[in-house]
Amino acid sequence: MNRAFQPAVAHGEVDSAPFRELPPETWSDDLHRVHSLIEALVDRYAFDILREVGAGVVHPSRVSALEWLSARLAARGHGEPLWSKDELARAAADEDRLAGPTFALLDRVARAWPAYLRGERSGERVLFDREALGLWQAYFSNENLPYAVVNRLGAWAAARETDAPALRVLEVGAGCGSGTEALLDQVASRVREYWFTELSPSFLRRGQELVSRRFPGVPVVFRRTDLDLPLAEQGVPLGGFDLVYAVNTLHAVKDIRASLAELRSALVPGGVLALVEGVRSDPGRPVAIEFVFVLAPEFRGFLHWPRWRELLEESGYARVRYVPDLAAATRAIPTYAMAAILARRPE
Ligand SMILES: C[S@@+](CC[C@H](N)C(=O)[O-])C[C@H]1O[C@@H](n2cnc3c(N)ncnc32)[C@H](O)[C@@H]1O
Repeated sequence: MNRAFQPAVAHGEVDSAPFRELPPETWSDDLHRVHSLIEALVDRYAFDILREVGAGVVHPSRVSALEWLSARLAARGHGEPLWSKDELARAAADEDRLAGPTFALLDRVARAWPAYLRGERSGERVLFDREALGLWQAYFSNENLPYAVVNRLGAWAAARETDAPALRVLEVGAGCGSGTEALLDQVASRVREYWFTELSPSFLRRGQELVSRRFPGVPVVFRRTDLDLPLAEQGVPLGGFDLVYAVNTLHAVKDIRASLAELRSALVPGGVLALVEGVRSDPGRPVAIEFVFVLAPEFRGFLHWPRWRELLEESGYARVRYVPDLAAATRAIPTYAMAAILARRPE
């Protein structure tokens, strides 16, 4: 049979009410098609890998990865996935212009999963060797729609939340600068000072190149900063930022509450924290893109979305809000998995 891939539910049939306030680039037919395809691809990969490897030969250190695959299949009710490998490969080729880097990363990781499960290859090698570095750079980019949408959602939500006319911004885990690019596209004209901070020196260098080239007139400080350590010790001034911004970073730190408390102390009273995070709609439903991150030694899985409110309130923030409203968004699309999360340092 030669079928053309179709999303399980057409874009026009999804309850769009929770997404109506969002800008069009974060809620579109293109995006729905690509997200549906990523879901189907990961289900196919998970099914085929489990069939190939079987439970018998899995290395003891990889049991939790095996459990991730099983949970992924369980979430969609087991059984053979609807779409064949060839049908999905054709669909991915058709969407290459929109999401080629995402498909390339998924494909590389899928090929490595069996050897990873048998303990023959390390996650570091799969994810972080030289070849993978190029894939990551292409993935964390505003040219890659599934990732660009995360940046645009965060930038839009953060820009609307902060009306300071002379903004002082601290960005943490800024990586190669794709989140910065999206935010500065919205607020560059009113930035008084922008701190671009990142842990990895090579990402920091790449980020500096991008941001200096795209926004030569914006006063940006580039600084290597580790969120697992106190900010003041690393030369980051406390108490003066109107906005602290973190795209897909906070889930990666050692102690989320401690890092959130540090970031709160960097804000002016009433200042805004804007996070963007991958989130689970249900604690037992693995997010499709976790298929890649599960191989990273430190990755613990995305949090069930309500947990972020608890963590923020426990860390001294007020007025926590999700954009879009995650309760409604995940009712409309059970696989919806991203959130801008806004909160304030109390006055
Ligand atoms: C998923 S990437 C997101 C990068 C960037 N925000 C973007 O969206 O393009 C997560 C980033 O967090 C950084 N990171 C991880 N742990 C960190 C820590 N302890 N302190 C600061 N940055 C950290 C990583 O180096 C990486 O650049």
